[in-house]
Amino acid sequence: MNRTGKTLLLIGATSDIGRATGLVYAMAGWDLQLAGRNLEAVRREADDIGTRSGASVSVHHLDILDTSRFEDFCGALPTLPDTVVCVVGQLGEQQRAERELDHATQVLRTNFEGPALLLGLIAERFAKRGSGTIIGISSVAGDRGRGSNYVYGAAKAGLSAFLSGLRNRLASAGVRVLTVKPGFVRTRMTAAMKLPPLLTAEPGQVADAIFSASEMKKQREVIYVRGLWWPIMLAIRSIPEPIFKRLRL
Ligand SMILES: NC(=O)c1ccc[n+]([C@@H]2O[C@H](COP(=O)([O-])OP(=O)(O)OC[C@H]3O[C@@H](n4cnc5c(N)ncnc54)[C@H](OP(=O)(O)O)[C@@H]3O)[C@@H](O)[C@H]2O)c1
Repeated sequence: MNRTGKTLLLIGATSDIGRATGLVYAMAGWDLQLAGRNLEAVRREADDIGTRSGASVSVHHLDILDTSRFEDFCGALPTLPDTVVCVVGQLGEQQRAERELDHATQVLRTNFEGPALLLGLIAERFAKRGSGTIIGISSVAGDRGRGSNYVYGAAKAGLSAFLSGLRNRLASAGVRVLTVKPGFVRTRMTAAMKLPPLLTAEPGQVADAIFSASEMKKQREVIYVRGLWWPIMLAIRSIPEPIFKRLRL
């Protein structure tokens, strides 16, 4: 297989969406830097993808809650990647987050603080070089706060706003910033949920959407993986607050 000489940094390499994404890039000839908190699991992933694709794959320890190590993490990468995808996330439990400050803090930090600070740090390096693509996985849950999952939703709203600002600031610096809102995806995160088939994607479909959006010349920067989500969220955002609060979504 032809290698492209390009490198992807995948943050959250053990996630179901992350594993599918790594494989799509590797099969397209990219080399990989895989990062995650469980180094053994990341190594297994690296071996599997390397064997199947012939890609050169390095592995890196990263806990997204340990922000004090982010500078060292970036400094230790073998090369500054061409593209970074951050798929780290935690759905958490809304009702537990309402009662337990520690749980709410972890959901907010895992979905917002950690990904935003790390992608921001990498963005500075990309801006200095004058090239790079940053891809953050946010969620339709961040498009409007709902009573049933607003702690996770608020964290994803924060991430979407951060990525939007980064995109706006770095537009003339040669750095592209993409926000991916996958909708429902059949992964271990949603294993306990009954998912509507029309609005649910497989991890491989999310991976294909990420890869084609990042490689496309057309400047699509906010991506709803299943197109149907776009009008649905437009409608949900437009519902006036007095009606919305009666819907108890
Ligand atoms: N599935 C969906 O329906 C859906 C919908 C919209 C958005 N998303 C988003 O898509 C992304 C991927 O989700 P997924 O469905 O593939 O879920 P997943 O398989 O549960 O993946 C979550 C990933 O986050 C990692 N992670 C959690 N806390 C971490 C920490 N402190 N440090 C480092 N890594 C940590 C996990 O690592 P371990 O393997 O070590 O636990 C895992 O790799 C998430 O951002 C999620 O919010 C998912």
